[in-house]
Amino acid sequence: MSKSEMIWLALSFGMLMAFMLATGYQTFALEMGPPSHGETIDPQKVDETAPFDQPGIKKIGENEYEVVMTMQIFSFNPSDIEIPAGATVHFILTSKDVTHGFQVAGTNINAMVMPGHIQKITQTFDRPGEYLVLCNEYCGAGHQLMSTTINVK
Ligand code: CUA
Repeated sequence: MSKSEMIWLALSFGMLMAFMLATGYQTFALEMGPPSHGETIDPQKVDETAPFDQPGIKKIGENEYEVVMTMQIFSFNPSDIEIPAGATVHFILTSKDVTHGFQVAGTNINAMVMPGHIQKITQTFDRPGEYLVLCNEYCGAGHQLMSTTINVK
């Protein structure tokens, strides 16, 4: 093996190790990894399990809201959410059937909502406008129809 081959081999191996270390550090030391298996729920009993027995928008503080939402083919409950500009919203989501997606255009929200799991996301909506909410996980024949809006006034 020529010397330059050895150098490139060592370099690429070193880079691989550096990237793995950086990713591992972020995930475990800084807890930046994707949350998973945080909270679970019996997907057959979503309607009877708090807080999902009462899905909806609740004001919980000064310009702070909680949105408890269930997702099912092919809708969001509640849909057409309305909140004032500058509001911080804590979304608590679960699915009643299959895996759905929860993506809010114009924000960083992009989550997978799986049956049996509770997904929690917090977002502050500073800019007024109509935010499109999309299911971005293929969930069946009506997947492309599964959308709603968050109206920030
Ligand atoms: Cu729900 Cu695609």
